[in-house]
Amino acid sequence: MYVKMLILFLILLSMSITLTYSSPGDNDPFYVSCVESCKSSNCTKDGKGFKEDKQPFILKMTLWYCNHECKHECMWKTVKIFNERFRKTPQFYGKWPFIRILGMQEPASVVFSLLNAFVHIKMMRKFRAKVKPGSPLFWLWHLFFVVCLHAWLWSAIFHYRDFVFTEFLDYACSFSLLLMNLYLVSIRLLHNKVSKYALIVITVAFIMFLTKHVAYLSKRPIDYDYNIKLNVAIGTISGLSWYIWCFYNRNRQKYVWKCAVYVTISGTALALELFDRPPYFYVLDYHSLWHLATTPLGLFMYRFGIDDCEFLRRQKLDGDSKKDFPYTGKHQV
Ligand SMILES: *[C@@H]1O[C@H](CO)[C@@H](O)[C@H](O)[C@H]1NC(C)=O
Repeated sequence: MYVKMLILFLILLSMSITLTYSSPGDNDPFYVSCVESCKSSNCTKDGKGFKEDKQPFILKMTLWYCNHECKHECMWKTVKIFNERFRKTPQFYGKWPFIRILGMQEPASVVFSLLNAFVHIKMMRKFRAKVKPGSPLFWLWHLFFVVCLHAWLWSAIFHYRDFVFTEFLDYACSFSLLLMNLYLVSIRLLHNKVSKYALIVITVAFIMFLTKHVAYLSKRPIDYDYNIKLNVAIGTISGLSWYIWCFYNRNRQKYVWKCAVYVTISGTALALELFDRPPYFYVLDYHSLWHLATTPLGLFMYRFGIDDCEFLRRQKLDGDSKKDFPYTGKHQV
């Protein structure tokens, strides 16, 4: 019953999230003519340079070209007009207006993405301090770390400045992060049940799937709808697999609650994506709060990893020293 409701919820969620490029703000005639006149009076012919360059250094560094500046300036003028007429603050090109800080387009999302990256670094250090290098699946957690850190850094860069290139990398990386979670649970559940060759086949299949979808994402225009449905499907499969596995092992491996908390937070945090309202103080929107909500994930998952590697190491030692005895599980923590 619970699982069915969860699936229904996720399907509804995947249908409700549709990203579009054209929004009320950038369609408004005032905005359109504002950008046009701003560009013709301030920008050079290619739209990038300024006729009269007074741009602060940090904005130059973060590639705010003249046409971007015009769009930014006209965005705020349009917002002001909308608010004066008591109309809801509009989106522009699928994004809410945010106060620009140090050239950051979406400062809150940048900060929270970096916070996620920081938690991964901190927890990996803890993992490396606590887990003995020869432990089973030691490498798997390192791979998890690299993929997650890479994804969060690109998320920060994309929210700093939205270009076709950074957008592509953000989408490709968040897909790689989700797929990494599915890979993690697959390998954890199968590594001592199937042969090494089967694991290699699984790994190759994951790499091929990643490559194929990333190639697909590189095509324009991005099919946001399909991408989100695929992401939700992958997230759901990994989450449910973890839940079921945690449930069956809850008595033998007391520490699995950490993993269950990880899955629960991921699922709950996703609900923040359902809200779509103008940002509080033109800084905090629900997308950034979603990134904030994912920061505790690393705290639980690496702690689970530490306990699990130790569990597997003892299990292996037990198995090696008492090969002739049937496994009783009595020696486990
Ligand atoms: C463009 O020029 C106008 C008039 O000089 C000025 O008010 C405006 O701030 C300029 N905009 C940009 C983006 O440089």
